[in-house]
Amino acid sequence: MSNLAIPAALIHAIRAARRVVVLTGAGISAESGVPTFRDAQTGLWAQYSPEELATPDAFQRNPKLVWDWYAWRRELVRNTEPNPGHRALVDMEQRVPTFTLITQNVDSLHRRAGSRGVLELHGNLFRTKCLAEDIVVKTWEDSGETPPRCPRCGAWLRPDVVWFGEALPAAVLAEAEAATAQCELFLSIGTSALVYPAAELPFMALGRGATVVEINPQPTPLSRHASFNLRNAAGDVLPQLITTVWEDKELRRPRD
Ligand code: OAD
Repeated sequence: MSNLAIPAALIHAIRAARRVVVLTGAGISAESGVPTFRDAQTGLWAQYSPEELATPDAFQRNPKLVWDWYAWRRELVRNTEPNPGHRALVDMEQRVPTFTLITQNVDSLHRRAGSRGVLELHGNLFRTKCLAEDIVVKTWEDSGETPPRCPRCGAWLRPDVVWFGEALPAAVLAEAEAATAQCELFLSIGTSALVYPAAELPFMALGRGATVVEINPQPTPLSRHASFNLRNAAGDVLPQLITTVWEDKELRRPRD
């Protein structure tokens, strides 16, 4: 992998940061083979419409279609592995005094890579809850019916993920916002920065004077506000960032 040009000022900012927040999106899982949402050809929203699959109305209209789509995504993710980008963030977590990983992803790949205390803003594909009671259900009878039914009340079960139009888990969002308000360095990795309230977080960090870095091969609405833009794949640049910041001491001091 070629040596990417990482500005020395960024290397020093990362070295100096004691409180770091990372926000990830589907792009960090792309190199594991998990489709993103908005990439033109391969994105999930290029093939399906969010309104048909990722909204409460869609589930009411066609619960079997929605349940089967998430079952397909679970099976797809089960057959993937965390990639060097996920693993570099586990490494970074060990080296930074206060590290908070916030993700919009529902694929569990950060946890499988070894990240601890991941703040999952949009829920998790592998958790299921009762539609009526809004309580997680771990086991249920396989009656062959799709979607399966809640063993307690008989209502349909649904994925414990946030659908469009639904509120994010309040405690998780509050913790993400609190960490963002305190951080000196905020990395926005593999997200199109289009979906709120997650997309608000880097702007909140900027407003508090933090250094904001975007890692994304494509520009996003955040790019022109970010302190640094690394136009690379996460799986390429994050391992190199770790090596350069924490293992390569021969670095030019930034020119005063
Ligand atoms: P998107 O598909 O909107 O954006 C993925 C971003 O990752 C794009 O900007 C790509 O350029 C970038 N990308 C692709 N490959 C990459 C790589 N190897 N390294 C780094 N970046 C790469 O996915 P999200 O921003 O995560 O929410 O979407 C946010 C939310 O919208 C999702 O959580 C989901 C979706 O609808 C809900 O369903 C509620």
